[in-house]
Amino acid sequence: MNKVIGLSASLLMGSATFVLSENVAPSQDGGYGLGRTALPEEIAAWDIDVRPDGLGLPAGSGDVFTGEELWIDNCSACHGDFGEARGRWPVIAGGFGTLHGEDPNKTVGSYWPYLSTVWDYVHRAMPYGNAQSLSNDEVYAIVAYIMYSNDLVDDDFELSNENFLDVRLPNEENFFMDDRAEVELPMFSEAVCMENCVESVEITARAAVLDVTPETETEGDAAAAEVIEVAAATEEAPPAEIGPSPELVAAGEEAFRACRSCHQVGEGARNGAGPQLNGIYMATAAHAEGFRYSPAFEQVRADGLVWDDEALTAYLMDPRGYLPNNRMAFRGLRDAADAEAIIAYLRAEGGE
Ligand code: HEC
Ligand code: HEC
Repeated sequence: MNKVIGLSASLLMGSATFVLSENVAPSQDGGYGLGRTALPEEIAAWDIDVRPDGLGLPAGSGDVFTGEELWIDNCSACHGDFGEARGRWPVIAGGFGTLHGEDPNKTVGSYWPYLSTVWDYVHRAMPYGNAQSLSNDEVYAIVAYIMYSNDLVDDDFELSNENFLDVRLPNEENFFMDDRAEVELPMFSEAVCMENCVESVEITARAAVLDVTPETETEGDAAAAEVIEVAAATEEAPPAEIGPSPELVAAGEEAFRACRSCHQVGEGARNGAGPQLNGIYMATAAHAEGFRYSPAFEQVRADGLVWDDEALTAYLMDPRGYLPNNRMAFRGLRDAADAEAIIAYLRAEGGE
């Protein structure tokens, strides 16, 4: 008995020594005798950066639909369902065409130069408070969804390490290598004037004249209320139905740009990826002859769904929620005002 116990104990000791010598790197021999060389595994855990040329990307893939679900569960609480952001959390989608304006909206879509940064950032730092909890495939799917919510890919898009370099962010070209050494340094290296530099000093404007101090809020509110009151007083009984205003129709034409890749309306409109929309207002669903509708649409036609304001608005705001399994690959309008304007445009352009 004793002998057996003695033997197994020494075996244990033996294996313990073995484990130690395998996993712990030798202590630093040079320098101050502090610390030790990092293990390859330790370096690998830190070395997770992904470069614009794709170096560092792990193998994996994920599609927009999977990404949307992951996004809703992990990200939308702060960044909004479509990346529009809740409250003051960062906006992730949109902002195109605003970079030259006074109030640029710098998002992943409008501003970031490289998709690799998006992958790296999400993988490294998000979800905020639970960083590095996502698998590589989940990160691919979420990045695919971020591309989709920026209108850069279609909803059947799948991102993987293989097609990663094929997708480009629109603002890439506006970034360039740091050239300050050649461009700026010479400007600031010239001898600087320290005395009597400007011939005469003139006052060009005064703060009071420039109106830099905003009026107090209460004054503003009172003025606004007055305007509303005046408007109310001058408003007569509403005129008989005269149809949508030209402004609304124009706004609708603009908003209809989100639909044009699939739908035509107006003279000569034909079916494309989606049915032509002439006469759609107050028509029974699945109205276009010769268009192959989904079974979901055949069903609502049989049920007698009529495209009145309410039905159109509900469908356009949330196509998949309103009509499950329908095939319109459009995620929905963000703003009910756009639905109203588009309906006005469809009525004006496509007849009623
Ligand atoms: C609890 C709130 C919260 C959640 C949940 C969250 N984020 Fe963030 N996100 C932030 C904050 C805060 C920042 C800015 C961090 C900073 O600047 O240091 C940020 C920044 C980002 C950015 C960079 C935005 C920019 O333009 O600088 C991206 C991309 C991003 N998050 C993606 C995600 C993704 C993907 C998820 C889900 C997997 C997610 N976030 C979940 C709060 C959140
Ligand atoms: C990616 C293509 C695509 C985009 C973008 C798109 N649609 Fe559609 N739309 C479709 C398809 C496809 C259908 C038919 C769906 C089916 O059969 O399930 C459809 C159906 C419709 C219908 C019902 C037509 C009928 O005959 O009953 C309306 C109305 C409509 N879309 C309006 C719009 C509007 C307005 C927009 C823009 C805000 C828009 N769609 C954006 C593809 C698209």
